[in-house]
Amino acid sequence: MAKIKTKYVCQQCGYETARYMGKCPECGMWDTFVEETVVKENSNITNKTILEDTNPPILIKDVKIGEEIRVSTNISEFDRVLGGGLVQGSLVLLAGDPGIGKSTLLLQTSGELSGLGKKILYVSAEESASQVKLRSDRLDVNTDNLYIYPQTNFELIKKHIFEQNPDIVIVDSIQAIYSNDIQSSAGSVSQIRECCNSLMHIAKQKNITMIVIGHVTKEGNIAGPKVLEHMVDTVIQFEGDKYKSYRILRAAKNRFGNTSEVGIFEMGTKGLKEVINPSELFIKEYTQSQSTGSTIIVTNEGTRPMLVEVQALVGTTPYPSPRRVTNGVDISRVLQILAVLEKRVGLNLSKQDVYVNVIGGIDIEEPAADLGIALAVATCARDVMIDSHTAIVGEIGLSGEIRAVNNIERRIKEVQKLGFKKIIIPASNNFEEKFDNIEIVKVKKIIDAISACINNKE
Ligand code: TYD
Ligand code: MG
Repeated sequence: MAKIKTKYVCQQCGYETARYMGKCPECGMWDTFVEETVVKENSNITNKTILEDTNPPILIKDVKIGEEIRVSTNISEFDRVLGGGLVQGSLVLLAGDPGIGKSTLLLQTSGELSGLGKKILYVSAEESASQVKLRSDRLDVNTDNLYIYPQTNFELIKKHIFEQNPDIVIVDSIQAIYSNDIQSSAGSVSQIRECCNSLMHIAKQKNITMIVIGHVTKEGNIAGPKVLEHMVDTVIQFEGDKYKSYRILRAAKNRFGNTSEVGIFEMGTKGLKEVINPSELFIKEYTQSQSTGSTIIVTNEGTRPMLVEVQALVGTTPYPSPRRVTNGVDISRVLQILAVLEKRVGLNLSKQDVYVNVIGGIDIEEPAADLGIALAVATCARDVMIDSHTAIVGEIGLSGEIRAVNNIERRIKEVQKLGFKKIIIPASNNFEEKFDNIEIVKVKKIIDAISACINNKE
């Protein structure tokens, strides 16, 4: 006998309650509760679970470490973010705005993987088989082992996974599929959670690798929100400006690798192309036209250094209190840098609006960007140009001192590779390697850095 139960679920955070509420006590959002019905099989689950328990507790010293099997996707930027390839039997969630290129990336990945002899089931819940076919023609994906299955019903999808026994299953997207066991509509928290959970079980049970697409809401959450992130092994985010051609792939969570790596792609007429040398892409416009308030910093994204342009605009404010606006860097970091500039350099910014912008849609988190930001602001305020082909790296302390950064040699190499003539680095950074054709200027204080980057100008 099936028992019918209803509950109210917050569509924002997944909080459940028996009665309707206006405001969610968990996430504080208003009007987010939706009534959902759950059909539960009235079977004696507890006994069944105990009978099937094949994994009793075991001493940690007796645990044998199994070799995790990784499959390369043949797309090195994707592999890099995954931590070296797809781990067999894991579930990867690929999240991103609609239209960013998630389906394109996974169709290309399917093409590569099926070319390597893997059997792939591509569940297309949003598009018909002919729509996928049109895209695959455009991307030149025409391999033998790739099955397209346009289906939204979870039970049917499950049936075909068991029948076909593929190596890899791609679900495009989790918001579009629904299970008969849940009475709410596709895309609701209960549906998403239930379907994702079942997919996870199938992945572990049958050792199938799953990649699931999830859309991101306007607020930037993975729709059907945070509930999915806890459940899956890896969360990969696909970001970028829909109106520009480059796209950034980054891991928000990875049970099988670190989350600091980024992968960079360019969207073209034949799909996504890997950008092997991102620095060139990010500073392309800088080298063409340079103005005051623009600096080049060397940021370390995972194991790869990258040159990025930071721009600042400083101008007299028309408002009673000046505005501080940042894009791509943390505002509190910028406020701290501005405070140091006022106190230690004597730059008066109390009547000035300050805008700081990182070009290329990159988010910079590491403090090694401090000095570049400070110099962009200071040179813009004083209306002087920084020497062209000069890169800047260093963390700023509250007394205006420049602190050492990690991986300095790798950063210098990247700067040198791109034909820069000068790099400003912290005085406390020591290294053994010798570098030719590049002037390395070591600075102790912000004030030294300012004179080091503009004193060659006539
Ligand atoms: P798509 O993969 O459908 O996005 P998502 O699945 O994330 O919603 O990609 C959609 C966009 O990509 C669309 O605006 C068209 C563009 N695109 C190209 O520019 N070149 C291509 O080769 C392909 C396949 C798509
Ligand atoms: Mg799509």
